[in-house]
Parts: sequence; structure tokens; C-alpha cells
Amino acid sequence: MLGLFSTLVLAAASVLQAEAALPSNCDRNATVAAGNTCDGISAQYNVSTYQLAAVNSGVIDPACDNLYVGEVICLGLTGQDCQTTYVAQSGDTCVGIAGFYNISENTLLTNNPNLNQICTNLYPNEVLCVSSTIYVNLTQSA
Ligand SMILES: *[C@@H]1O[C@H](CO)[C@@H](O)[C@H](O)[C@H]1NC(C)=O
Ligand SMILES: *[C@@H]1O[C@H](CO)[C@@H](O)[C@H](O)[C@H]1NC(C)=O
Ligand SMILES: *[C@@H]1O[C@H](CO)[C@@H](O)[C@H](O)[C@H]1NC(C)=O
Ligand SMILES: *[C@@H]1O[C@H](CO)[C@@H](O)[C@H](O)[C@H]1NC(C)=O
Repeated sequence: MLGLFSTLVLAAASVLQAEAALPSNCDRNATVAAGNTCDGISAQYNVSTYQLAAVNSGVIDPACDNLYVGEVICLGLTGQDCQTTYVAQSGDTCVGIAGFYNISENTLLTNNPNLNQICTNLYPNEVLCVSSTIYVNLTQSA
């Protein structure tokens, strides 16, 4: 009897947890489909690699190996949602990308804090925020 009761409590708790998964200041979301990767989702929905990770911190692992089909993930936070993005290609440089979008390299690096200061860790298929607006606060609201 006690065992059944604990099972019900656990089931109720996990339903609450699933419903509470998206931050209350999430302004757009997507449902994970079979074969999705984080960078694939980022490219599809115009979300930077950094932003997708930041707004789902604590939900999606840093290695992005725990996505599951049907999972609803947040794509951006209200007022802090960069939707001007570029998918990096082989041979790209930060200087070149910044020049193409007419933004300073400093703006590019500020909006993509996952890049190192000399941009040597840029990789093909990484999605970058290339907006001239600075998005500084990707704090999730409870
Ligand atoms: C996802 O976004 C849609 C609107 O596009 C909204 O109706 C839905 O409630 C959102 N899902 C969650 C879990 O917040
Ligand atoms: C993503 O951005 C590209 C280029 O600006 C645009 O053509 C496309 O419609 C955007 N896609 C979405 C889902 O917003
Ligand atoms: C590039 O941006 C600057 C302001 O940051 C603006 O003055 C200039 O006109 C822009 N150039 C082009 C080609 O859009
Ligand atoms: C960042 O955003 C959170 C959630 O919206 C807010 O509570 C916090 O005050 C903001 N911090 C700054 C420095 O703007």
C-alpha cells in the first residue's frame, strides 16, 4: 500500500517536473524529432548554438546527448531572443562573418560567448547570432 502510494507521488512529481521544464520567460519552443541534434535544431529555427544551450541549461547536457523525441525545448527568452543567425561553413572566420553582417567582431564575440577571444574554436555547422543588438541576459525565469 505504501509502495503504491510512493509510486503515485513519484508519478505526480514527474508530471509536474515535465510541465515546469520550460522557463516562464520562454518566447518560442520546439519539439524534438527523431534524428535531431542541437546544432541541427539551431539551424532550423534560427537560434544560436550558445542561446540554445543557455536557455536549456540544466535540461540539455553540454554534450547535447540527452535529447529525446517529443521533448519540448525552449528556443529563446522574451526580449533576449536573437533570431538573426548564420550557420558557419568550413573556412569561415569571425572577422569574415562580422564583416559580412556589418557588425564588429566584438559584437559577434559578445553575442556568442562560446567562441574564444581569437575565434579558433569556430566549427562548421555552429550557429552564430549575427545581430548588431547585444543580447546580454539569457537568465531563465522559474
Ligand atoms: C510552445 O509554443 C506554442 C506556441 O507556438 C504554445 O502554444 C505552447 O504552449 C508552447 N509550449 C509550452 C510547453 O510552453
Ligand atoms: C531563418 O533565417 C533565414 C535567413 O535570415 C530566413 O530565410 C528563414 O526564414 C528563417 N527561418 C525561421 C524559421 O525563422
Ligand atoms: C554598417 O554599420 C554601420 C553602423 O554600425 C553603418 O554606419 C553603415 O552604414 C553600415 N554599412 C552597411 C553597408 O550596411
Ligand atoms: C536577467 O533576467 C532575469 C529574468 O528575466 C531577471 O530576473 C534579472 O533581473 C535580469 N538581470 C539583469 C542584470 O538584467
